Amino acid sequence: MSQSHYSPLLLTLTTFHLFIISTSLPPTFAQAIPINTLVAPIHKHSPSSLYTLTLNFNSQYVIDLTTPTLWSSCPSNHPTTLCSSLQCAAAAPRQCTRLRGGGGDAGHYPCTCTAYRSAPTTNKCPYGDYLTLTLTPIILSGPSVVSSCSTNNAIHPALPVGATGIIGLGNSQLNFPSQLSAQLKIQNQFAICLPSTTAAPGVAFFGSTKPFRLLPPDLPDLTTLLSYTPLIKNPKNPNGYYLDVEGILVNNQPVQFLERVLEFDCLGHGWVVISTTVPYTTLHSRVYRPFLKAFVRATSRIQCVPKVKPFDLCLNSSKLGSTRMGYGIAQIDVMLKGGEKWTIFGRNSLVQAGPEAACLAFVDGGPRAEQAVVVGGYQLEDHLLVFDLDRSRLGFTGSLLGIRTGCASFNFTVGV
Ligand SMILES: *[C@@H]1O[C@H](CO)[C@@H](O)[C@H](O)[C@H]1NC(C)=O
Ligand SMILES: *[C@@H]1O[C@H](CO)[C@@H](O)[C@H](O)[C@H]1NC(C)=O
Repeated sequence: MSQSHYSPLLLTLTTFHLFIISTSLPPTFAQAIPINTLVAPIHKHSPSSLYTLTLNFNSQYVIDLTTPTLWSSCPSNHPTTLCSSLQCAAAAPRQCTRLRGGGGDAGHYPCTCTAYRSAPTTNKCPYGDYLTLTLTPIILSGPSVVSSCSTNNAIHPALPVGATGIIGLGNSQLNFPSQLSAQLKIQNQFAICLPSTTAAPGVAFFGSTKPFRLLPPDLPDLTTLLSYTPLIKNPKNPNGYYLDVEGILVNNQPVQFLERVLEFDCLGHGWVVISTTVPYTTLHSRVYRPFLKAFVRATSRIQCVPKVKPFDLCLNSSKLGSTRMGYGIAQIDVMLKGGEKWTIFGRNSLVQAGPEAACLAFVDGGPRAEQAVVVGGYQLEDHLLVFDLDRSRLGFTGSLLGIRTGCASFNFTVGV
């Protein structure tokens, strides 16, 4: 297939490393070019291990899969959204409305809508104002994106230096992909490919993800390699993307823990949520302890070295062989509903935490962790993830290192 399968938009946008800019082109040009896909680079930040998306030329927004809207600090004079608006009704996560009485702050007249971010990983409800920003994507004029701004510096997680705000990709009609989809008539889905390096960007697609190509040029369209699993909605945390996980294998042996821990209870606890703001996958103690034990057993022939916080098992990395997918080590399989499995190899299971310390890159979330598993960014790196919002399913590839590429191998000048 040739490069022409990328829409011309891709070319224009990626030339500037952005997909929303404050320029508009003549309308005739706009009509001539159908938009299928919008593309933006993703940067990994150190030491925060957060990932940002570049919008409006060079503004960095932290990618957050549990926040429903775009967030930034409020400009001193900003328009607000009325409580009576549809957006306001659609906006408030349920577990937060209890705290502050409805979607709007009724103490203020005229009543302006209070925006909340649900933060399933912290169980907090940061809030701010809703406002409508007019962002002008190239070749179309004026879709406005409902956005929120924080009046009280309650933007969590702490933003890396230079970041403008948070791009909420969480499950909601108000999330960025859904708003783009409604206004630009593109497919309601997005793809992220998180880089494992700070040296080169990974890539996000909004709209059609076909074809998804990385260098070298002879690789197939990676969307042909996707496996799918349903995305589940947790009524208590409706903005998060949950997976139905049936079990975990270490070295092909099932890890013994109460399967019940992986099920939702009526308080919305349990199951498995995906997060790009948690650096390492965090397991409820009842899952973590048997998992750690199984991994220790599977690697017992390899010399341990002193632990490096926050990890509990570190191996002497000079004793480990290396493979295309990182250190050669017992593989971890996450068994998903529907028979698919997600296999984690050395590059995503061990992290170099010292000169000779390769540590198991999973963290104990404690006995009171809200979620059974929060899948963190380190485990997602160098995988293509397609969030198909219309069909409520997640497409995922295995480690792209297995086919000698990675998320930082997107050619941003393709199609020029
Ligand atoms: C790790 O293994 C190397 C090579 O066998 C050895 O020289 C080194 O002392 C070991 N490191 C630790 C901390 O035990
Ligand atoms: C990226 O794409 C451009 C345009 O097709 C091409 O000229 C360039 O060689 C590609 N870069 C690499 C590293 O293949």
